[in-house]
Amino acid sequence: MKDKKSGNSVALVTGGAEGIGLCISQAFARAGMNVVIADNNSSAGRKAQRSIGSNSVFVQTDVSNEAAVKKMIAQTVRHFGRIDYLINNAAIGKTVSIEKLSFADWTKILHTNLSAAFLCAKYAAKYQRKTHGAIVNIASTRALMSEANTEAYSASKGGIVALTHALAVSLGPDIRVNCISPGWIDTRDYTNKPKFPPLTEADHKQHPAGRVGRPEDIAQMVLYLCSKEAGFITGQNFIIDGGMTKKMIYVE
Ligand code: NAI
Repeated sequence: MKDKKSGNSVALVTGGAEGIGLCISQAFARAGMNVVIADNNSSAGRKAQRSIGSNSVFVQTDVSNEAAVKKMIAQTVRHFGRIDYLINNAAIGKTVSIEKLSFADWTKILHTNLSAAFLCAKYAAKYQRKTHGAIVNIASTRALMSEANTEAYSASKGGIVALTHALAVSLGPDIRVNCISPGWIDTRDYTNKPKFPPLTEADHKQHPAGRVGRPEDIAQMVLYLCSKEAGFITGQNFIIDGGMTKKMIYVE
């Protein structure tokens, strides 16, 4: 993924400091690309940048804020000269009953998880059209199914799936746009958060694939969707959940 005229391709990963985003950032770097880790957590962001090295830069930003996104895109172009791949991965959630979910929290979740993807695509498009790049949005199987008390998160992820096909039609053929809907992905190896409880056999066995997901399962798909080999794929939602959304769970 090298352009002889203007150097290595550049991948911008929002929420790239921790979790799945960190794994995606590392995977792009291993594939020889320059990586922008865009995150609002400065200590995790700096640590992630150190773990990747000189072909990466950390940009502290709040992707839910339009002025901050404009600045982050400008910093990316100033630093690396181009944008090839945009991975809209940053997200937050809150499990709370609808009666207790404040409008402020609803708005914050919608802005962080959905409006941010719109803003990043809007301001990166000018540069991605030049590089014939790709966008990968990270949605969730919660775009398609729910546990109780997840209205804001689920709505934001449903919005991501719809935004993906809208952008694919609007930005094609210059830029391909796809999304991935992960199921349960265990991020313990990529986080600075307090230790997660150990996974049980039942956690793994309930999945038709026989195990809980790993960040690498998502990162590999992101890389594929950004590659030339995926040149005929746009506007799609890829569910990576070990088969859980295909499993009927009626109690017998
Ligand atoms: P995480 O919470 O470990 O990482 C999210 C990253 O986004 C953090 O580094 C955080 O600092 C950053 N971030 C949050 N708000 C931000 C903002 N306003 N501006 C900039 N950065 C911000 O999350 P995880 O688990 O790695 O999830 C990554 C993506 O995958 C999210 O879109 C999530 O919804 C999705 N997903 C994750 C699943 C899982 O089981 N881990 C399942 C389904 C979807």
